[in-house]
Amino acid sequence: MTETPFTVCIMAPESARLKERVDELLAGCDVAVPEIEVLESVDSTNRYLLETAPDAGATPRACLARCQTAGRGRRGRTWQARPGASLALSLAWPIREGRVPPAYPVGVGIGVIQALEELGLEGVRLKWPNDVMVDGAKLGGILMEQRMAGADRPGWLVAGIGINREAADTLGLERAVTDLASHLPGKVPEWLELAARVVERQCRLHPVLLQEGITSLQDDLERLDLLKGRTIEVLDDGSKGRALGIDSASGCLVAAFEDGQVRHLHSGEVSIRGYEHG
Ligand code: BTN
Repeated sequence: MTETPFTVCIMAPESARLKERVDELLAGCDVAVPEIEVLESVDSTNRYLLETAPDAGATPRACLARCQTAGRGRRGRTWQARPGASLALSLAWPIREGRVPPAYPVGVGIGVIQALEELGLEGVRLKWPNDVMVDGAKLGGILMEQRMAGADRPGWLVAGIGINREAADTLGLERAVTDLASHLPGKVPEWLELAARVVERQCRLHPVLLQEGITSLQDDLERLDLLKGRTIEVLDDGSKGRALGIDSASGCLVAAFEDGQVRHLHSGEVSIRGYEHG
């Protein structure tokens, strides 16, 4: 294992409880179950898993933190949350050979929404590529990061998942944000239960996503796609068009632009007319 310059405080009873619950949810299911570490505080669960990834072995890992001091967001942003008020969870998967299907990150977002729906949340949508939205406000986000394989060591794919549980309105963010407490009053899943359900869903989906991307998730993709049919603006270049949907083979957002061209967007950020971006 690589040395990490940060000291972390492992919450042993919580780690054991989460592991036990994940094992229970996945009992009888032929999928890899991760090792689990619950930390009191860490700078970033993504950074932690990437930098402590073992050079040998193939067991996936999950890290949940009660508090992140330097949570990472997409496009170099920071991910902010009050201690104990959000889910800060990362899953690390060893990647031995082949490439990760480009639609994998979209699939992670679909999996997070499936878990939230199982917990009773309605009206949750995926804003391409993988923002989790309710009523036009951001409930959660996903940051995919990768450590490439070396000649004699596996690569690691890390899916970092942040979900606001409560107090999102106290963060002072410019964009519209929301939390589970606003949509599931009195029924916000307990922290470890929420983590267990999200881990369970990702464990079930991971082999499918790795093998075939999101092609078998087409129905959910249609149902959950927030942008489809809406007028969008690509923030990088200001071009405007109408979103036609997410291409299940590539994970790209397909849009018809004002200049008459239909283009596949690979990455970047779009805003929806009438919505704040973020
Ligand atoms: C986004 O910008 O929308 C992505 C946010 C991802 C945040 C999560 S919280 C757990 C994991 N660890 C991090 O440092 N970031 C991700």
